[in-house]
Amino acid sequence: MITASNDYPKEIVLMASNEETDHILGFESSTDIKKLIKQAKEVLDKNWTGKFTKPTSGLYPHQWSWDSCFIAIGYAHYNQERAEKELRHLFSGQWNNGMVPQIVFNSDDEDTDYFPGTDFWQTSCSPNAPGEPDTSGICQPPVHATALLLLLENAKDAEKAERLARELFPKIKAWHDYLYRERDPLNEDLVYVRHPWESGQDNSPVWDQVLKRMDLEEQDKPDYERTDTKHVDTAVRPTDFSYDRYIYLVNYFRDRNYDENEIYRDGCPFLVQDILFNSLLCRANRDLARIAGWLGKDALPFHERALKTAKAVNNKLWDEEDGIYISYDLRADQHISGHSLAGFLPLYAHIPSPSRARRLFDYLDTGSFCELDESCFAIPTYDRRREEYTPKKYWRGPIWINLNWLLYHGLTNYGRQRYQHYIKQSIIYLINMSGFYEYYSPENGDGYGSKDFSWSAALFLDIIGLKRIELKDEM
Ligand code: GLC
Repeated sequence: MITASNDYPKEIVLMASNEETDHILGFESSTDIKKLIKQAKEVLDKNWTGKFTKPTSGLYPHQWSWDSCFIAIGYAHYNQERAEKELRHLFSGQWNNGMVPQIVFNSDDEDTDYFPGTDFWQTSCSPNAPGEPDTSGICQPPVHATALLLLLENAKDAEKAERLARELFPKIKAWHDYLYRERDPLNEDLVYVRHPWESGQDNSPVWDQVLKRMDLEEQDKPDYERTDTKHVDTAVRPTDFSYDRYIYLVNYFRDRNYDENEIYRDGCPFLVQDILFNSLLCRANRDLARIAGWLGKDALPFHERALKTAKAVNNKLWDEEDGIYISYDLRADQHISGHSLAGFLPLYAHIPSPSRARRLFDYLDTGSFCELDESCFAIPTYDRRREEYTPKKYWRGPIWINLNWLLYHGLTNYGRQRYQHYIKQSIIYLINMSGFYEYYSPENGDGYGSKDFSWSAALFLDIIGLKRIELKDEM
């Protein structure tokens, strides 16, 4: 049982003593939430550079786009200044065409061995790249409006937060405009990703069919040296087969000066309408509409975009047979059959109808992901009953805090409190047991990848409702 001492904030006592789920998880140790809060803040302090927060030292020494959004969501509870700096620094790397890049490179630390670095990307060959700072030439899922909205909602200094919102609103609008203008050539209200890294779920089994089709000739194989495996165990990282293709794609974009028309027209081998990216975009439109309302601007265009994308997701990306959402491989003109946790995340954007949500739930609440009445950890990234599932390997099975956070919030829209509660407890349990890891084994909860991972710490602070806790303590 998780037990809570008397001086715990009431919410946590309530949250940590739901006997139903405690029993399912088999909790035995006592969780000192305050100790975990302190540790989470220490992780963020350690990764804070003065300008932005690294996902972690060593393996990821620069600023990553969706990481920074999740990190800002955590800071919004207790350090508004850092949350604001985080987002401002990220947007200082925004391209002229509106793209928010996957990486803004850390110019203060040229000592890192990160690959591919600025000399490999060479994004200055694009007229759209900013001169300063240096960035990569791809993007990541659009959670920026969501982060800004949560910052507005949680910030202590409302005036300052509103100033930031006024500054970032046109930039986020330009980012969404870019996606619909340049990543939706068929005008389907669905945007494509052109690299597995753009999906944020680098080596998900969902990409296997596309990567396998990329049959590289010897002369197409890029010449490079991986550095990720110097920092963490090779067994928990993508294979060389995948990496060759990741790097081949970077070469492909650079050879075309990152010109989107050329990349599409020349037949870029990886073009996917990803279910997670499009769901997050749909939600980001709704969140931008709320920000527009907050600032006294016209919210309608963003609502309209959200509705159109929701409709397109329902029309094109729903798998009626299996009751889950899936991605679409534009090059092969066919659906991708892999079933990942991302296939449930249209819930986060309120996309499924109640009947589809029921079907999703019938699948989620089974041994394929996590059946509440059996002992399991919330919630693996990939269907555990499928052959491709690998409990240790990055996005091929392990539990990630960010996807669980999205699912947790998605369930709010559909009244699944018991499952929601379970996810929250399981996150606390995993962190208490193993620390703030990048990802966790669904089999035994062990932490994998890098230690002291920023978004695990930041989203933990958000999911436990740190602001409420601290306000209470002040009273
Ligand atoms: C990995 C993850 C990606 C994350 C990045 C930095 O590439 O797959 O989602 O943004 O690391 O943490």
